Amino acid sequence: MNNNFPLKKLQNIRTPYYYYDMELLESTLKKVSEEARKYNFTVHYAIKANANDRILEMIRSFGFGVDCVSGYEVKKALEAGFGNKGVVFAGVGKADWEIELGLDNDIACFNVESVPELEIINEIAASKGKTANVAIRINPNVNANTHHYITTGLEENKFGINQWDLEKVTDAISKMKHINLEGLHFHIGSQITDLTTFRDLCVRINELQKWFISRQIYPKIINVGGGLGIDYNDPNQNPIPDFEAYFKIFNDFLELKPDQEVHFELGRSLVAQSGNLITKVLYVKEGVKTKFAIVDAGMTELIRPALYQASHKIENLSSVATEEKYDVVGPICESSDCFGKALSLPHTSRGDIIAIRSAGAYGEIMASQYNLRELPKSFFSDTI
Ligand code: LLP
Repeated sequence: MNNNFPLKKLQNIRTPYYYYDMELLESTLKKVSEEARKYNFTVHYAIKANANDRILEMIRSFGFGVDCVSGYEVKKALEAGFGNKGVVFAGVGKADWEIELGLDNDIACFNVESVPELEIINEIAASKGKTANVAIRINPNVNANTHHYITTGLEENKFGINQWDLEKVTDAISKMKHINLEGLHFHIGSQITDLTTFRDLCVRINELQKWFISRQIYPKIINVGGGLGIDYNDPNQNPIPDFEAYFKIFNDFLELKPDQEVHFELGRSLVAQSGNLITKVLYVKEGVKTKFAIVDAGMTELIRPALYQASHKIENLSSVATEEKYDVVGPICESSDCFGKALSLPHTSRGDIIAIRSAGAYGEIMASQYNLRELPKSFFSDTI
């Protein structure tokens, strides 16, 4: 039983839907702000994690910038009232219209991932009589020790520019009249819980900085990306990630030059714990080893378990009876539509309300209409 949920109110809303704890979101953002401010670090919110209007409104009120990976995200960030000077735009495959959109809105920076992309940005900027600020996304070959689908900083990954190509890139930039090299960008992966990984990243960045400085290139901005993980097993115990330890690592290990800025692109750690997918038990069916609790949410509302074998804590909000083992599955016609196997839950019956926890990041935003389902609605603790 988790008394943090207003069960009576939740019961009256048609399931499945997302329910956001706005108090927790606010305290999380407050903590990030305070810890980043200690070192004068700049935080961009990775909007790909959650672009719900209410969530964006609160994030904007804390003065964060936005990290975008598509033209649609750039548009959304601007519409949501984030200033253009706080918008950075990454991604391996920016289409021409997306580059134009960024230039027309004078965004802060394009994080570029290849020489061909640089050439196109230079060409489009020239046609508009503008100069594009860019950061080179370098693939630092640091292992994030996370699920391979969300590892991005290894040489084998499609992201970033490998070290052996840097000479080519800096030569190319020096000949481009409409490109201004603002900084270096890194992002090694997501859901990183071993903080020593970030120390390894800092050490690698220091080495790379030396390479640039030996060529008289002084990057103004070091953007270290995002990736800080959250506690999916015990969201009640650890509702707010350890931002204090996280930022301290960068302060302790990054060797900064005078006036250099450190930027972060945090997504999951800002929003994950405030979101829950609320679903109702439709049927309980006997299985071979366990029972199946068939709920009305599926991989269409939360794809993370099916796609990354991710596990989210599942709580039955309606029952306090003795625990039994259940496979919690959705109604979608796919065997991977399973939220968890052999989970201990209090005796569960039709109509019980289930909370699938820590779903505020990469939950609602990754919903699909497969099986022609409706996209989930969202409700908020301060307005229900
Ligand atoms: N910056 C860049 C360039 C990124 O690609 C990402 C995430 C972030 C920042 C934010 O990372 P975060 O702080 O959220 O870890 N859908 C997957 C996660 C994909 C992450 C993609 N990139 C999931 O549900 O686990």
